[in-house]
Amino acid sequence: MKHIILIGYMGAGKSSVGAKLSYRYKIPFEDTDKIIERRQNMAVSEIFERYGEDAFRKMETDVLAEMGNRKTAAVIALGGGTPMRPENHEKIRSLGTVIYLRTAPETVAERLRGDMTRPLLRGGGIQKIEAMLAVRGPVYEMLSDYIIDTDGKDLQDIAGEIEEKINETACN
Ligand code: S3P
Repeated sequence: MKHIILIGYMGAGKSSVGAKLSYRYKIPFEDTDKIIERRQNMAVSEIFERYGEDAFRKMETDVLAEMGNRKTAAVIALGGGTPMRPENHEKIRSLGTVIYLRTAPETVAERLRGDMTRPLLRGGGIQKIEAMLAVRGPVYEMLSDYIIDTDGKDLQDIAGEIEEKINETACN
């Protein structure tokens, strides 16, 4: 089944863009963080606190594998760290068309100012975001079929650009 997969750093807009695409294509939207939170009945930050990051990463990999069993097409947003596990790479690629929502560190810092829901960003300023993006950016790029720069664009523009890319793919 060919899904639309959204990857990118925290604050890239995966959830809001995913919801928009889901509405446009009339297919369900799955957000792997939300699936994990529902199952554990706790927020991601609490899962990190109680069980640690490694346990959360294992949950992510399990949910990713389940996404591969879906019988109908969906828009699927992955947590920002999911692509960083090499064992997830083939799973991500095989799910469908992978779209990387790229953001500059300044944009992330601005969007997530005061956010307390991302355990990895607590106590870290823009330097932490820059350092993580320097490591993660090349991996996101390597995994993606299309890269969409989101800085300075609204939801409508971003969803429109993705639609264009997907339609081009469908026509070729
Ligand atoms: C993480 C991103 C978060 C969430 C967790 C770890 C990361 O998801 O999975 O806080 O390592 O980048 P979002 O990308 O949806 O914020």
